[in-house]
Amino acid sequence: MSGHGVYEKLTGDNGVRHRKGEETSDQGSQYGSVVIENEVELKKEVGLIGGISLIVGTIIGSGIFISPKGVLQMTGSVGLSLIVWAGSGVLAMLGSLCYSELGTLVKQSGGEYAYLNEAFGPIVAFLYAWNSIIVIRPSSIAIICLTFAEYVESFFPSCGTPQIPMKIVAAAAIVTLMIVNSLSVKAAARVQILFTAAKLIALGIIIVGGIVKMAQGSTSEFKDSFKGTTKSPSIIALAFYQALWAYDGWNNLNYVTEEIDKPEKNLPRANIIGVALVTVVYVLTNISYLTAMTSAELLKSSAVAVTWGDRVLGSAATILPVAVLFSTYGSANGTVFSGGRVVFVAGRAGHLPEFMSYIHVKLLTPMPSIIFTCSIALIMIGISNISTLVDFFSFTAWLFYGVTVASLLVMRFTKKNEKRVIKLPIVIPILFLLCAIYLVIAPIVEDPQIQFLYAAIFVVGGLVFYIPFVHFKILKIDTITTWLQMFLEIAPSQHMPE
Ligand code: ARG
Repeated sequence: MSGHGVYEKLTGDNGVRHRKGEETSDQGSQYGSVVIENEVELKKEVGLIGGISLIVGTIIGSGIFISPKGVLQMTGSVGLSLIVWAGSGVLAMLGSLCYSELGTLVKQSGGEYAYLNEAFGPIVAFLYAWNSIIVIRPSSIAIICLTFAEYVESFFPSCGTPQIPMKIVAAAAIVTLMIVNSLSVKAAARVQILFTAAKLIALGIIIVGGIVKMAQGSTSEFKDSFKGTTKSPSIIALAFYQALWAYDGWNNLNYVTEEIDKPEKNLPRANIIGVALVTVVYVLTNISYLTAMTSAELLKSSAVAVTWGDRVLGSAATILPVAVLFSTYGSANGTVFSGGRVVFVAGRAGHLPEFMSYIHVKLLTPMPSIIFTCSIALIMIGISNISTLVDFFSFTAWLFYGVTVASLLVMRFTKKNEKRVIKLPIVIPILFLLCAIYLVIAPIVEDPQIQFLYAAIFVVGGLVFYIPFVHFKILKIDTITTWLQMFLEIAPSQHMPE
């Protein structure tokens, strides 16, 4: 069975984890035995609607309120910018089709981590876990919460944009998310559903407002709409980067496969419906922006949704910055919810200290991994800023999306005879892979900055930890594990993926 492969490869025996539990109880921890008797495991609480909310709620965050300006600036024309917005949706859809095949073939949580482990073995999987845990997840949480904080500051225009209070607000947002997600899976899912609904309503207002404006004849921006289009392919790649940040999160449901009810049906459905919904919403929202302001005005606006609100809603305009707060907070919640899962799966497989994979005995949440992911996001907020974080994020994320879809192609050979619920035409993964390669290389060709070298060194830098700690296991952390088990009331999960 594919799920057991992870343990067999890394520990040589599924039972190792259980024996450790018993040892712990010999040492006096009451939780070791609780686990063995009571089957502590994550529940299958995510259904179709929950899955769609997780996808939509994580994807829609800061991007649709920030990126339209950058996309328009780079493409040079309304026509091409709308094509980039729709094209990014198509790319995200290709990605989620590929991930639907992967998620129904390898039915473990952890997304990329699980697929890379199956296709390329533990070292590549470890490098993904390392990059996901240290760069990708925490940097997205940090970027979104910093955007959240910027909008909080927009309520106090006379104060300007001081850095320290902004960072404190962002940190406070992260801490509250850490608490909610550690206390209850249900509460985290409720936050997700509530905030997704709130932001869909807000974007709905923008879309309906746009349709009304169009009916009234505000269509001048769409005439002659390709005038001024850029001719540079690498600038177009950068425009895609901007829009793709807004679409990022399309892969998030695959992190929680083991918590999805009937994953073979609900995972692909939620993936496809979620991304399609977001694409339609994003394209219509962009059209609406341009019915209320000219492209020159959009380029001058620092917060496009706020400008739109001022023009169209008049005195009700404050509703929009509030909506942006809901939107970003909900997106960060989705990222914490799923990001913690990668740590959980990597810890369970022995790639991180084992206690990372434990779940709380009463609350049934993967508390240690949530605390770990959020703590790194807090450090990033302390030492970095949005644009540096976005550079690091995009490069590393697209590198691994590419490698993961390559794993799909590899498994077409290595798991030739395994029954597949979904088997895509081979051109889909190939097309996605080519786009990912282009997206990783184009910005470096356009502007070879030292950051990309740092990011590349970081990608393989994880090996420095892999060899001594994972391969040779030179550090014994049993004592810390026992102590943390008692302190956090956590225990190993008995759940074995199928
Ligand atoms: N698309 C989101 C936004 O516009 C960012 C999502 C970050 N990535 C993630 N996996 N949560 O802000």
